Amino acid sequence: MEGQQNIIVVGLVKREVDGLGVSAKRREVPGHSAVVIEEVIRGGPADHTGMVQPGDTIVAVNGQDIEGLSYQEATKVIRDIEPGKPVELVLRGPKWFHTYLETVRLSTGETKTVRVTRPNGPIGALTLLIQRMRGNTFDKRAIRKLENRGDIPLNNRGVTNGDVIKSIPSGTIASGCPVTGHRAATVGPSRTRRPVRLKNWLNERRINDNLHSKANDLNPCNDGRCLGPLMRPRPFTAPGYFRPKEEVLEQAKKFIFEYYASLKSSDAGERDRRWRDVQVQVEEKGVYHLTYDELLYGAKMSWRNAPRCIGRIQWSKLQLFDARDVTTARGMFEAICRHIKWCTNGGNIRSAITVFPPRTDGRHDYKVWNGQFLKYAAYQLPDGSILGDPINLEFTEVCQALGWKGEGTRFDLLPMVLSANGEDPEWFELPRDIVMEVNITHPKYDWFEELGIKWYCVPAVSNMLFDCGGLEFSAAPFSGWYMGTEVGRDLCDENRLNITEAVGKRMGLDVARNSSLWKDAVFVEVNIAVLHSFQRNNTTIMDHHTASETFMKHLENEQRLRGGCPSDWVWIVPPMSASLTEVFHQEMANYHVRPSFEYQEDAWLLHLWRKKPEHPVLLKYAYDENPKRKYRLKEVALAVKFAAVLMKKALNKRVKTTILYATETGKSESFASSTLTIFKHAFDAKMMCMDEYDITNLEKEELVIVVTSTFGNGDPPDNGEAFGQALLHMRHPPGSDKKRSGSVRRVSSISKASYRRQQKLLRQLRDGGALGKVRYGVFALGSRAYPHFCAFGHAIDTLFESLGAERIHPVGEGDELCGQEESFRAWAKGAFKSACERYDVGHDVNMEEAHASLLGSDFSWAPGKFRVLQTKGLPETDILEGLSKLHRRTVVSSTVISRTQLQAPESSRQTCLVQLETHGAQELRYVPGDHVAVFPANEDRLVQAILDRVEKGTNPDAVIQIEALQEKKIGAGLVKSWTPHDRLPACSLRTALSRYLDVTTPPSPQLLLYLAMHATSSRERAELEALGKGGLRYEDWKFEAAPTLPEVLQHYPSLQVPPALLLSQLPVLQQRYYSISSSPHMYPGQIHATVAVVKYRTRGGQGPEHSGVCSNWLNTIKSNESVPCFIRTAKNFHLPENSSLPVLMVGPGTGIAPLRSFWQQRQVDIKAGTASGHPPGDMTLVFGCRQSRVDHIYKEETAQAMRDGALTDLYIALSREPGTTKTYVQDIIRQHIPKKVLDLVLKDGGHIYVCGDVTMATDVGETVQRILVEHGGMSVARAEDFINNMKDNNRYHEDIFGVTLKTHEVEDAARKRSPSFISLSEENTSL
Ligand SMILES: Cc1cc2nc3c(=O)[nH]c(=O)nc-3n(C[C@H](O)[C@H](O)[C@H](O)COP(=O)(O)OP(=O)(O)OC[C@H]3O[C@@H](n4cnc5c(N)ncnc54)[C@H](O)[C@@H]3O)c2cc1C
Ligand SMILES: NC(=O)c1ccc[n+]([C@@H]2O[C@H](COP(=O)([O-])OP(=O)(O)OC[C@H]3O[C@@H](n4cnc5c(N)ncnc54)[C@H](OP(=O)(O)O)[C@@H]3O)[C@@H](O)[C@H]2O)c1
Ligand SMILES: Cc1cc2nc3c(=O)[nH]c(=O)nc-3n(C[C@H](O)[C@H](O)[C@H](O)COP(=O)(O)O)c2cc1C
Repeated sequence: MEGQQNIIVVGLVKREVDGLGVSAKRREVPGHSAVVIEEVIRGGPADHTGMVQPGDTIVAVNGQDIEGLSYQEATKVIRDIEPGKPVELVLRGPKWFHTYLETVRLSTGETKTVRVTRPNGPIGALTLLIQRMRGNTFDKRAIRKLENRGDIPLNNRGVTNGDVIKSIPSGTIASGCPVTGHRAATVGPSRTRRPVRLKNWLNERRINDNLHSKANDLNPCNDGRCLGPLMRPRPFTAPGYFRPKEEVLEQAKKFIFEYYASLKSSDAGERDRRWRDVQVQVEEKGVYHLTYDELLYGAKMSWRNAPRCIGRIQWSKLQLFDARDVTTARGMFEAICRHIKWCTNGGNIRSAITVFPPRTDGRHDYKVWNGQFLKYAAYQLPDGSILGDPINLEFTEVCQALGWKGEGTRFDLLPMVLSANGEDPEWFELPRDIVMEVNITHPKYDWFEELGIKWYCVPAVSNMLFDCGGLEFSAAPFSGWYMGTEVGRDLCDENRLNITEAVGKRMGLDVARNSSLWKDAVFVEVNIAVLHSFQRNNTTIMDHHTASETFMKHLENEQRLRGGCPSDWVWIVPPMSASLTEVFHQEMANYHVRPSFEYQEDAWLLHLWRKKPEHPVLLKYAYDENPKRKYRLKEVALAVKFAAVLMKKALNKRVKTTILYATETGKSESFASSTLTIFKHAFDAKMMCMDEYDITNLEKEELVIVVTSTFGNGDPPDNGEAFGQALLHMRHPPGSDKKRSGSVRRVSSISKASYRRQQKLLRQLRDGGALGKVRYGVFALGSRAYPHFCAFGHAIDTLFESLGAERIHPVGEGDELCGQEESFRAWAKGAFKSACERYDVGHDVNMEEAHASLLGSDFSWAPGKFRVLQTKGLPETDILEGLSKLHRRTVVSSTVISRTQLQAPESSRQTCLVQLETHGAQELRYVPGDHVAVFPANEDRLVQAILDRVEKGTNPDAVIQIEALQEKKIGAGLVKSWTPHDRLPACSLRTALSRYLDVTTPPSPQLLLYLAMHATSSRERAELEALGKGGLRYEDWKFEAAPTLPEVLQHYPSLQVPPALLLSQLPVLQQRYYSISSSPHMYPGQIHATVAVVKYRTRGGQGPEHSGVCSNWLNTIKSNESVPCFIRTAKNFHLPENSSLPVLMVGPGTGIAPLRSFWQQRQVDIKAGTASGHPPGDMTLVFGCRQSRVDHIYKEETAQAMRDGALTDLYIALSREPGTTKTYVQDIIRQHIPKKVLDLVLKDGGHIYVCGDVTMATDVGETVQRILVEHGGMSVARAEDFINNMKDNNRYHEDIFGVTLKTHEVEDAARKRSPSFISLSEENTSL
């Protein structure tokens, strides 16, 4: 660019006597020698231009590059030019200067072009100074001339401020695009513009465009801005306007002369006669009649001159239909039908133009109101969505207002709306048999056909004005054939059919991330589909690569034939793979040459109605010739657009808020998404899972809202683990705390109930301040059935505070056992209010609306908001793939090898050992202690019970797609459209209910409210609504009956459930974890699980029997069936690296599961002699069961492990053994092995492993603590700290299954202690 700016083009005429009027010298440049101007001879042609200066290098002469030539060859080129001939010199200004041409306004008001030579950096400035000191100016004379004449440079600088030299030729008028480096260089003294040098950056080839010298000054670029990319670069003329005779004549003359010049055998006499004839006609009528040949020539030239058309190589093969004799709309229609038939040609498309009578007085125009002959209607449906091609919405309205009625399909061809001779419009339905359409299919994706898309074959632009020979043909539709990307854009553009996302999803692309380039991938496939479909239909179409090639050829032809080709780079470069086509690399000059095609305003906006229309739509658009102050659609649109810009700016100023969540079973995610919805009312909020969040951004955050549950025994959910650890690291960078360095802290210890510990920690942490600029709020989910209630949420709160962040609202707690949703809603409202107050924002927020948003996100249920489409032929997504997508993790298949019942046959309960084959899957590799996550299926019986109650007419086995009615911004307005709701993978309703959706968890209050909408009995509706309010009634109902969805449906027989409600609102069926019960070294390629089969009766044992989903599925699944699963690493539950350390393992019931993997590993290690080189340490197992002969599982295996030396001690606690006292595992520990425990903990650096339900684990923890107090002499607090330290140091390990033992009792007790339960009970007390 720099180099180009130092280039100017000067035109002069070589004289007989003094030639060009310069003397040149040779300057050696590496590789060649340059011809440099040494002196400009006073009074000579160069001097006369005022543009040539000593020091200039001659780059090219009359289009011939002389820079690569030797000095002799170069000067010979100049010498060989005949005297009297025009010479065009391309000059490069002196080094260290910028030389360019600039327009100045003279005192006379005239504009002129001057040469400006401006120092380019300090060397240039210095050179200038030296020149001045030497009294040597580049062009003092020119400057003086300028000064003497009182000419003022536009910027009033130049000469006077001493850093710029300007020189001026006489009579130069400049215009054009100043942004390009060539602007004023295009204008010479004789109004002949100078060539524009255009480079092809791919092959370095350069061409000079001379044709632009014939351009009209209609370029919108001026005042230092380039408006090249404007869609409609020139203003429209108002109705009633017509060209004055002078203008018609001026253009007619140019045209007629050009036309005759184009005729090889023309003579000047004939031309002049024709010209006189034209003059007479124009004088008489203001217009004249073009002969057919003139019109044909003009039409072809219009195409040839159309800068935006890439397919112009065909310009000379245009068929003209002369319809200037037509006088009626019907006549126009017939001509159009003829045009369509001729150019369709059975798919072998031909280019044609039909020309109707020209404009006369501006009040008798002929107009085709359609933008193209063939266009599809757009209907705004009552729900706000658009059916059809949204771009035609306004025109469809107009057609309907004129009386047309479409069939209401997505591809209704619009009628032709035509006005002849200024009359009011008439509409005509196109005969179907003349319109050729192509169904769009894909060569590879069979499902593409199911999108049901077609497109028409002939693109015929019908609303442009044909400007020819001074005449304006307001109706001159023309047509060619498609380039594939045009149809591709029609299908993919957001304001058109907008199929991009739908296709992306069908292709299985990651449409959530821009960086996956899914849109690009879709666009390629859609374009492939378009090309494929047209070609399969034997219909002409061109791909953009071929189009680019033909255009390059056309450019070459045009360069040769007429010295240039007006080309609009912005339009010529295809909308896809731009830089892969040569046109992308080709510089182009865009200018306006007549004959031409011009844009016109939409006909319904400019029509002068003969009879005032009655229809309000037509009235709305009708042109008012005497406007008071009427805002036209475009103005309104502009205003809306402006408002949108302001809105965007305002949004940009909004406080950035990051909502982070961590979840194990999905609740925190759904609460986080509700938080997002409410915060979006006043904040620039985004939501992320903690494990996707880059913690290094935390310090830069303004407001962070955390929503998280707690798992294990006070631990983070899996996807919050890293974030929690990172926060701990922020507070305790490695090495900052010698005592604790290298230890893995447990987040739960931070929020440990112990106030003393917390205070101590806070004191330690208070000096920090890394999050000093951050404000935050936390909502913690948990269950009071666990001792560390909401521990992780509290830990986050404590850590944020200790790192200097400011809490904007107290931590919220949501107890799963009672009122979790209610607590959340109250907290979210409060947090939002506090945040608004803290940032002094949200004054204009309608709080009621904001609060209402908490009840449902964008995808909340409302009748009519979702619909289910049956997709013919679409296969179901493979279950593994579907689960992987749904749960955003890799789910792989294992198969059942065998199942063994572990309890005695007479037992009332079942516990089974399930052996799975991993088929060597890398993803299923594990170490002892890890968990396997299993995705079960719901019982067929339950699925069928639901299917029996869905709305009639639903095929449960057809693959369906669910769509949601979403509001989208199109242009300046909001429209609703059906968009695929890809919550679930492609599947049938049956599969969804069986594999993806949770149908046994008691429905949430929200779901009950949705169901209430579909109860036909008013009593049932009222009951469901009452439960749907939440509160104690709901909580009691849930606790007592724990009703599954089929039970709810059974209880409310009037319910007929729309399938879309189930598909969009039921919670997702979650994976269940099982502690792996095998060592991979003892059972390579296998995973064993010890599964307690869950069966219980509700209503305190009086209600119906419920079966746990996964445990029962695993207990019934057949051999070789696939079990979708993944491995979860339990890094806090692995055996110590040093196998000589003593190990105490405590696991009653199924808690024995992971312990089995430990002793198996030890057996293998002992056998292989690989137990870290040391004799293996003690391994003690404390197991608990009810009766030795009933549920003492793995009795034989543990005995064998004892014999193998893997287990050194084995203790069994029997809780219901007839004739003996009830003994639990903790009793054994306390009574039989306190000394062993004390030594292991205090002396031997041993490890304790506790596995099973949380109550047992807590009891065991307290027992160990008691031993430390009673036998180790510690205080209670010290003992508690000690155990916490052991946990921090990964010596005390817990593997918690949840509340499994005595679930009902534990939950009942916990919920009665819960403050939410108490407050809800009080709320419900009637006074
Ligand atoms: C880390 C971890 C490891 C685990 N390891 C094992 C393991 O090795 N072996 C094993 O068997 N389990 C293990 N579990 C438990 C297991 O994940 C499942 O929770 C268990 O199998 C039940 O799942 P389900 O689908 O059969 O039952 P679900 O359909 O999930 O039903 C269980 C639910 O039913 C309700 N419920 C259960 N009993 C009653 C009752 N008496 N009264 C009222 N309501 C009740 C409760 O709400 C309970 O949450 C582990 C859990 C975790 C978190
Ligand atoms: N219904 C079924 O078919 C079935 C079968 C297996 C499992 N399950 C479910 O799975 C859960 C776990 O079953 P499981 O086989 O692992 O265990 P479990 O057999 O129910 O219990 C194992 C042992 O732990 C004892 N125990 C109870 N509370 C304890 C506590 N606080 N501390 C220490 N020990 C305690 C039990 O004693 P007591 O029970 O005698 O008090 C029993 O001796 C059950 O609660 C049940 O929900 C159901
Ligand atoms: C195995 C297991 C362990 C749990 N541990 C705790 C705990 O230690 N503290 C607690 O408050 N809640 C605990 N919970 C309850 C969960 O935090 C609660 O179910 C929460 O609503 C889950 O939210 P989520 O779906 O976002 O993970 C536990 C739940 C399970 C199943």
